[in-house]
Amino acid sequence: MKDKILVTGGAGYIGSHTVIELQSAGYEVVVIDNLSNSNVDVIDGIEKISGIRPAFEILDCNDCNGLKELFDKYPGIKGIIHFAASKAVGESVHKPLLYYRNNLVSLINLLELMPLYHVKGIVFSSSCTVYGQPDILPVDENAPIKPALSPYGNTKQINEEIIRDTIYSKIPYKSIILRYFNPIGAHPTAEIGELPNGVPQNLVPFLTQAAMGIRGELSVFGDDYDTPDGSCIRDYINVVDLAKAHVIAVDRMLKGQSEADVETFNLGTGRGVSVLELINSFEKATGVKVPYKIVGRREGDIEKVWANPAHANNVLGWTAKETLEDTLRSCWKWQLKLRERGIM
Ligand code: UD1
Repeated sequence: MKDKILVTGGAGYIGSHTVIELQSAGYEVVVIDNLSNSNVDVIDGIEKISGIRPAFEILDCNDCNGLKELFDKYPGIKGIIHFAASKAVGESVHKPLLYYRNNLVSLINLLELMPLYHVKGIVFSSSCTVYGQPDILPVDENAPIKPALSPYGNTKQINEEIIRDTIYSKIPYKSIILRYFNPIGAHPTAEIGELPNGVPQNLVPFLTQAAMGIRGELSVFGDDYDTPDGSCIRDYINVVDLAKAHVIAVDRMLKGQSEADVETFNLGTGRGVSVLELINSFEKATGVKVPYKIVGRREGDIEKVWANPAHANNVLGWTAKETLEDTLRSCWKWQLKLRERGIM
């Protein structure tokens, strides 16, 4: 058995897929989650896939005393992957304080506790949102950090600064910052996938629920952007591919292979896809129609962004492998599974 890793937000979408990959690489995993945007059944899904039930505690990372009790209860945690955060761009415009509290206090708590409990490193879930609207596409890690377009985006920028300032203060641990583009898809077993609580704020869960007839029409937010078909462009990355990058990052950090105390990597495919193209690809890949209508722009949205993933490809030896079509088929398989289970 390899080292013990704490995964915050491990019952969430990317977190749960990462727990599976960590377990299959031999790591012992402790999951915490406040279940604000996830469900305890996810832990059953993880156990079904890997055959191993991770240690699980319902805990909010804003609860510093609760975190101390956790580190006492599970001694010897060597690394943290910090997913737990609020993540919806649109919601953050309307609830900025929720975003600042959830996304900043939780990270500060973890960083403060790490040296006390001899944790050697933290992998942080950042986002391409830190680039704002890049001047040059595809965007690489050296692109300037622009003023954020949403409170959510701002929290990710501040989080990155907090990590850099802390590590440069000669604290004895390392960090790898992973800037995700748009994660989509579900585990090939369809035992876990993306299931936000309530009405989905992001594209793919809304799309599959609309295709299933649960949500009415999907609203396409804007067709007057400066893009070939007028809808926004993103880089949609398969969630299992993304999860695998976390294992590589943890291995690298704990084996002392990092080239700097803080390293930053883009995780994307390198391919930009518009909202309308995504709908088309879904219909082609699954044969299922998506009811949709064009509506006005959503506040805080970036027009177009896709990754230059060369740094992660070359340094981590990681590449996004799954095709968009296979990934969209996995989304639909997951939606069908939710129906079969009577959840959606
Ligand atoms: C998502 C993530 C964010 C991450 C970012 C990286 C969520 C909730 N948000 O934000 O954490 O930092 O990727 O790029 O996971 N759209 C519609 N109709 C809808 C929903 C979305 O047209 O009902 C459009 C949006 O305008 C956007 C695209 O689909 O152009 C993707 O939107 P969304 O899935 O919400 O992702 P991001 O806002 O990019």
